[in-house]
Amino acid sequence: DPPLDPYRLPRLVLPQRYGLSIAPDLERALFQGSVNIAVTVRQSTAVIVLNALDLTISSITAADDRGRTLAGVCTLDQKAERCHLTFPEPLAPGDWTLSLDFHGGMNDQLRGLYRSTYTDDTGTVRHLAVTQFEATDARRAFPCWDEPDLKARFALTLIIDPALTALSNTAPLSEEIQEGRKIVRFAETITMSTYLLAFVVGQLEGSEPVYVGRTPIRLWAVPKKTHLMQVGRDIAAASLRFFEDYYGMPYPGDKLDLIAIPDFSHGAMENLGAVTFRERALLIDEAAASQGELEDLANVVSHENAHMWFGDLVTMAWWNGIWLNEAFATFMEALAVQEWKPEWQPLRMFLTSRASALSVDGLNSSRPVEYPVRDPKDAAGMFDVLTYHKGAVVLRMLEQFIGETLFRDGIRDYLKTHAYANAETEDLWASIGTVAGLPVSALMNGWIFLAGYPLLTVRRDGPSHLLLTQQRFRYLTPEPAASGQAPQAESLWQVPVHLQVRAGGRERSHKFVLAEATMRLAIPEDFESLIVNEGGHGFYRVRYEPDLFDRLQARLPDQLSSTDRFTLINDAWALCQAGLAPIASYLDLTTRFRDERDRHVWGLILESFGLLNQLIEATDRSSFSRLVQDRVQPAVSDLGWNPRKGEDGLTGQLRGDLIEALGTLGEDRTAQARAKSLYNGLPGNGGGIDPNLLPALVSIVAYTGEAPEYERFVHRFKQAATPQEERRYLFSLAAFRPKPLIARTLDSTLNGDVRTQDAPALLGALLGNVEAREMTWTFIKRHWETMERLFPPVGLRRMCGAVVNLATPELERDVRTFFTERRLDFGGKLAQQYLERLRIVVQWRERESEALRRYLRPFSMQSTT
Ligand code: BES
Ligand code: ZN
Repeated sequence: DPPLDPYRLPRLVLPQRYGLSIAPDLERALFQGSVNIAVTVRQSTAVIVLNALDLTISSITAADDRGRTLAGVCTLDQKAERCHLTFPEPLAPGDWTLSLDFHGGMNDQLRGLYRSTYTDDTGTVRHLAVTQFEATDARRAFPCWDEPDLKARFALTLIIDPALTALSNTAPLSEEIQEGRKIVRFAETITMSTYLLAFVVGQLEGSEPVYVGRTPIRLWAVPKKTHLMQVGRDIAAASLRFFEDYYGMPYPGDKLDLIAIPDFSHGAMENLGAVTFRERALLIDEAAASQGELEDLANVVSHENAHMWFGDLVTMAWWNGIWLNEAFATFMEALAVQEWKPEWQPLRMFLTSRASALSVDGLNSSRPVEYPVRDPKDAAGMFDVLTYHKGAVVLRMLEQFIGETLFRDGIRDYLKTHAYANAETEDLWASIGTVAGLPVSALMNGWIFLAGYPLLTVRRDGPSHLLLTQQRFRYLTPEPAASGQAPQAESLWQVPVHLQVRAGGRERSHKFVLAEATMRLAIPEDFESLIVNEGGHGFYRVRYEPDLFDRLQARLPDQLSSTDRFTLINDAWALCQAGLAPIASYLDLTTRFRDERDRHVWGLILESFGLLNQLIEATDRSSFSRLVQDRVQPAVSDLGWNPRKGEDGLTGQLRGDLIEALGTLGEDRTAQARAKSLYNGLPGNGGGIDPNLLPALVSIVAYTGEAPEYERFVHRFKQAATPQEERRYLFSLAAFRPKPLIARTLDSTLNGDVRTQDAPALLGALLGNVEAREMTWTFIKRHWETMERLFPPVGLRRMCGAVVNLATPELERDVRTFFTERRLDFGGKLAQQYLERLRIVVQWRERESEALRRYLRPFSMQSTT
């Protein structure tokens, strides 16, 4: 026999249909089940290998279609997360039914079949049974072939307390009471992957259905929350309608339930027909919510609905191709929201996605979007910025290059060809390429199969020519290859270039592909300026020689589109961090954005100030605050503190962001006093004020707050009327600066006051608080084992991503030692990436601190306003 791949199941026996019956015991956190699996034996074998983890398995039989039954025994391989069923003689090729019983415990790690807990309005503690199977946790709930290409149909029966409601992927066929238990039989699912099976059992209240065609859509939550379902219901219906049209194919399920769960490790999960969410991603009060909160919610709902086709109907063949699911849903989520609320300008999300992907993909420890996956940890590690955001923006780059209609038609072809089955990256290129009549894989493979992306250098070459050069962008010079090793060949990409040349007061655009390391092209001698990545769709950065950069800068603020302004400032900041431009030139550039009114452009600038704030020496802090005031104050004065009549939410959000920065990073005493007095004048529920201003007030009150404010915010967190309010006050606790308050927030992450779905993110936020970061790091080290046991793995991983804030050489050394000694591994290359990001920041601090101090000198003379 060939040796078993420890992480891929043999294909001798394939599942067709699971008849699965599960009885969860919510009080005792246990479950019992039995499963009949219709399988095809393809090659005679006496041993059947499938996945199971933390389950006890008994009563194993295999029956063929002529009534022959064999009894088997089971051995568990805990490490490989498998069970081996051994029968006394080989099973002949053909159809068999495997039957087994099993039981297990519901965990608190928010994976597999787990228990979620809440207190109802009578003060009684209640539970729900919930599943979260992606990526590889179906095997914790029942024995199965837990790999995405081993698709099958599922017929689920749940045996539950008659007072409770059960939901699963399909509509219930029947409900009956037997011996005091409710037996709910669900309709058989479509052929789908194990990770998409789901059910929820508990006291659940549903909304009225809204129909899209014949599909009823309902939202569900624990009792007394149906008044928070309106927005979610609207975007759920609008996006489902949009996707049926875009994909040219009806929704593949028989109904669609969207279910809010009090404890949930991720944001949401696309189980076909039974999408699960954390509460704040589905329930919202439109009148009290901020623009950002509304957008987040709409994006998540739209994203999960996009998966019903992309992911659920057509699934990647293995986890190395998970970008086909996640990048696509991230791409589509924006298109559907664009149709629903164009005034939110959701397509501008591609800019922020691109910025975050470029920053991770500029690391030497980056990885290609498609990347080998062996074990479950690697599969989990694939759900990162590169999969979601690099993947989505390179799809957008392709779409914009070939045109939206051809792209969509290619997608329709892909879905039709691979429905109910699995696909790989090459299949997607084949569909789009056939429809578009273009060699799409040649164009796209570099963006998917190579780590990193190009830096395009633009120089003049004589009076009427340009020289374009591509070379991988890196923040850090890589370690020289060990002697004896050949230096790595430089990667080359096929770069879709969108060049705008301005001459004689007119702009002309040219599209072409840069496929070589350099390219020489003609330009009019009398040109005034040029933009190389016009529209910002290209996944690369641009470095202009000084003269070209000056010409471009001279067009600020009005003669560049907000997109081109975004790209300009984003690249400038990255070049500065990479040591390719001095800090002074970046800070000078920010003076040209005082008239900026785009929230995303400001978002970048404020983020760069936030990072500088992590590096600044204590003695320079007040000068730095004055620099922030200098940049931000004019916009705040102009926008004022009160919304204007008929103003849109985007402006409201910008105002909030700027005021928050002025009162915190800017330490502006006037703004702080005004924020405090405004906040203190509000009724307890924070009503009666623009919901876009409230987050800024809360931040400033926390930032400047002492014990009384802290008490007040803890109270608001506990009494919150909406999930958004709860989140806002919870995370505000991480912004307080007095040490005893920081200590209390730290304790709350482990003493049960804060749900484990939020605790790691709260610790991450504390790492970002300059006054709290060292205490927090010490706390994390001290309680590491407890955290590993309590927190869902995805939370722990994201928390560790926040070590980038520990931006001193001593702390960096300590972090590195901790990561190394504990052999921290979050799958893929995430641990290396976190350390490299920290290295970049610390090295940059050492390199630039003198220049920064010099730059700040004039600001130390002024008096504080
Ligand atoms: N499929 C994911 C959720 C997931 C990720 C489950 C990794 C298990 C492992 C889902 O579609 C998703 O992407 N959710 C996002 C929200 C989304 C709007 C980006 C999440 O949970 O963060
Ligand atoms: Zn997703």
